[in-house]
Amino acid sequence: MAKSKAYVSSVGLTKVGDHWEKSILDLAVEASRGALKGSPKVKPQQIIVGNMFSSVGSGQEHLGAMIASALGLAGVPAYKVEAACSSGGTAFNVAYNLVRAGAIDSALVVGVEKMRDLEPEAVSQALAMAESADYTQFVGASFAALNGLLARYYMEELDVSRDDLSAFPVLDHANGVTAEHAQFRKAISPEVVSRSSMVADPLRLFDCAPVGDGAAAALIVGEKGAAGSKRRLMEILGGKVSTSQFSIYERRDMLDFRATHEAFNGAMQQAGVTAKKLDAVEVHNAFSVVGALSVEAMGFSKRGMGGRDAREGKFSMGSELPVDTFGGLKARGHPVGATGMYQVAEAYLQLTDQAGKNQVDGAEYVATQNIGGVDTTSAVHVFGRAA
Ligand code: COA
Repeated sequence: MAKSKAYVSSVGLTKVGDHWEKSILDLAVEASRGALKGSPKVKPQQIIVGNMFSSVGSGQEHLGAMIASALGLAGVPAYKVEAACSSGGTAFNVAYNLVRAGAIDSALVVGVEKMRDLEPEAVSQALAMAESADYTQFVGASFAALNGLLARYYMEELDVSRDDLSAFPVLDHANGVTAEHAQFRKAISPEVVSRSSMVADPLRLFDCAPVGDGAAAALIVGEKGAAGSKRRLMEILGGKVSTSQFSIYERRDMLDFRATHEAFNGAMQQAGVTAKKLDAVEVHNAFSVVGALSVEAMGFSKRGMGGRDAREGKFSMGSELPVDTFGGLKARGHPVGATGMYQVAEAYLQLTDQAGKNQVDGAEYVATQNIGGVDTTSAVHVFGRAA
């Protein structure tokens, strides 16, 4: 069966940070209205919400119908997709596949998370729900603790230095300076990372993505919806979600991010694009070690070399493959279930020349990688400038 082409026709997003005065619904509606305003002729045939823990964070479920109603779109099928921190990217993948299969011709996807209303301990508990309740949560391991263990193993096993590990937060913070929607807009040095307070040895404060609130939305359209509005379209060329063995300690090689590897290869194959053609990649840099293992899993760096490559400028703005062009998870921020949709919105800004000071000149192809758990789920999408 012939597949339909699929495009993003507009996006909307809020700044990431402390939104004490706004509810989870306010944030979702603000981002969604931004996306809907950009494509006034499109009425979404489905609304798909990416969110990880609205029940815990806001005492609220049933987000789909609630957002549809608030947007004046009651009647439109609406529901939530949950895949931990990859909820946004996975929700986007569901919508993309529906449009691509020709089942619908338009969808609104909104990723939203409200984290800051919770006390720090409660945030930690909510994030840990991405891991097994019977085993990982039971022993009291936080998500930062798990990634700390992984970072220690990575450094010892592959002879990775502290400065190598610091390269991803330094890179993200440099790019966040000019990103208007970023949570942190200050450049940092490797010394700032290595002297910041210890969170989970060897991970320090600046190795960790921050806690923040935010929402980002995109309108996906098929060929009918795209007709007549070619100027501001981004084509979705490929997308795949993959999963790894659920618990990291059950994996044969903990330093091999299989879900990302499979999702990236699948999405690139579907897109018919080789890695060399990519002009930018949004990487799920939740912790420095995750950024490094991610670029290695996608084949941009050799094993153990992700941080060193970043330190040597391989992924900086102006290089052949800029990474995290708006500051990534570390500086733009990581409102978990919304993050995958921020990445999509950022790819759109790049490929429609609306990225301002963060623009990668002449960008033709951008990939996004959004992880849930410790690479337990990975959603990768490949986008191209619409012809
Ligand atoms: N990077 C840079 N600065 C940060 C930061 C971060 N990750 N987190 C907090 N800050 C800053 C705050 O702005 C604040 O600055 P101020 O004093 O000038 O206002 C200061 O550091 C202390 O902030 P606070 O919120 O008290 O920090 P915290 O100790 O409660 O939380 C972490 C810090 C690292 C524990 C928390 O951000 C965290 O848990 N991050 C990981 C989140 C996560 O696991 N996400 C899912 C990954 S897939």
